[in-house]
Amino acid sequence: MLMPIKEFASRRNKLIGHMAPDSIAIIPSAPERVRNRDVLHPFRQDSDFFYLTGFDEPEAVLVLIPGREHGESVLFCKERNPEKELWDGYLTGPEGAIEKFGLDDAFPIVDIDEILPGMIEGRSRVYYPLGRDKAFDSQVMEWVQTIRSKVRTGAQPPGEFVALEHTLHDLRLYKSPAEIKVMAKAGEISAEAHCNAMKKAAPGVYEYQLEAELIHTFMTRGTRNTAYPSIVGGGRNGCILHYIENSAPLKDGDLVLIDAGCEVENYASDITRTFPVNGKFSEPQRALYEVVLSAQYAAIDAVRPGNHWNHSHEAALRVLTQGLIDLGLLSGSLEDALEQASYKPFFMHRTGHWLGLDVHDVGDYRVGEAWRLLEPGMVLTVEPGLYIAPDNTDVDEKWRGIGIRIEDDVVVTKDGCRVLSEGVPKTIDDIEALMAR
Ligand code: GLY
Ligand code: MN
Ligand code: MN
Repeated sequence: MLMPIKEFASRRNKLIGHMAPDSIAIIPSAPERVRNRDVLHPFRQDSDFFYLTGFDEPEAVLVLIPGREHGESVLFCKERNPEKELWDGYLTGPEGAIEKFGLDDAFPIVDIDEILPGMIEGRSRVYYPLGRDKAFDSQVMEWVQTIRSKVRTGAQPPGEFVALEHTLHDLRLYKSPAEIKVMAKAGEISAEAHCNAMKKAAPGVYEYQLEAELIHTFMTRGTRNTAYPSIVGGGRNGCILHYIENSAPLKDGDLVLIDAGCEVENYASDITRTFPVNGKFSEPQRALYEVVLSAQYAAIDAVRPGNHWNHSHEAALRVLTQGLIDLGLLSGSLEDALEQASYKPFFMHRTGHWLGLDVHDVGDYRVGEAWRLLEPGMVLTVEPGLYIAPDNTDVDEKWRGIGIRIEDDVVVTKDGCRVLSEGVPKTIDDIEALMAR
């Protein structure tokens, strides 16, 4: 692992520092999910649970208890079992959780119903992911019920149940130097994958064959998971924002839009590039592409401390809208077009989102009424686009069916930002040069 194990302990300690002294936090792992009959989906740990433990098994629960004498961080997990491990793979076990993952204390998950109510008892506030999973909500209530059934013996059930998200997700929003290193690695591998897909593109190649090229690079570089299903859309499929069928052959003269990123140690990367199937942009493609690229540069330029979350979206909107006017796709003045949001049929999403353990990462975008100010360590995507619907008869035919998005991952630094995904070209000259090789 690139991430030092001690970082997980320091995250737990930070969270404990934000908790009331007479409280307890309960954070479950992700469940295993059935794909069909005896086959499970590949396991992906819950991001909150992983952030606090680095522990990658299902059927585990992390409990944080400020001030507990025998250790504040307690893990319940599966016990080791040589016979089971022979079938399903290695287990860490409670002893291993303490030794390898630095938990203070650990117990077998089969004993949780017996042990956890005693840990909750006497604590007035319970933090947990309230309302996220019905089964876990009722599980927590069963543990509390066990305490309530003993009030006549003096047991004190908790009275307050508080969503854990607010505090925990604010911690997750600020990435440490170690996290940025991992995310830079993810950006580097994904950029290389995009380069390889560009080199593979040609008329007649199927969209899924470019997807295969991406996955091949991810796995060759040592990471098996994609952060989300890869989008490979040739021609008009590039206008479908979440196109994941990836089943069509690429056509001479079309663009292809690839939105794909790997995960490294569960941290996402999220890159989009749009390039010509035959290696050469046509005139209308070139004109629209230059507008999107200028918008992306303007949006990246707006990512710096002191600017707020929406500055980069506003910067992108101005350039995109002016570009649409200049090309005759919109009429009227820039201010009127912005005011009336007449760019909406061509640009219907936002310019980015937080990025981290989740591709659409946690963290508030507003504080009260105001947009959140950017601060060093925050990581976000910058992804303007233009999509001219194939059936838009209001515009000249030459524009129809062109979909373009350019997306990079950037981290806010002390005096601006750093692009984590710059290893894949995005200027027309650089793309054409790479594809000509
Ligand atoms: N790939 C999802 C997104 O760009 O937000
Ligand atoms: Mn994306
Ligand atoms: Mn994105």
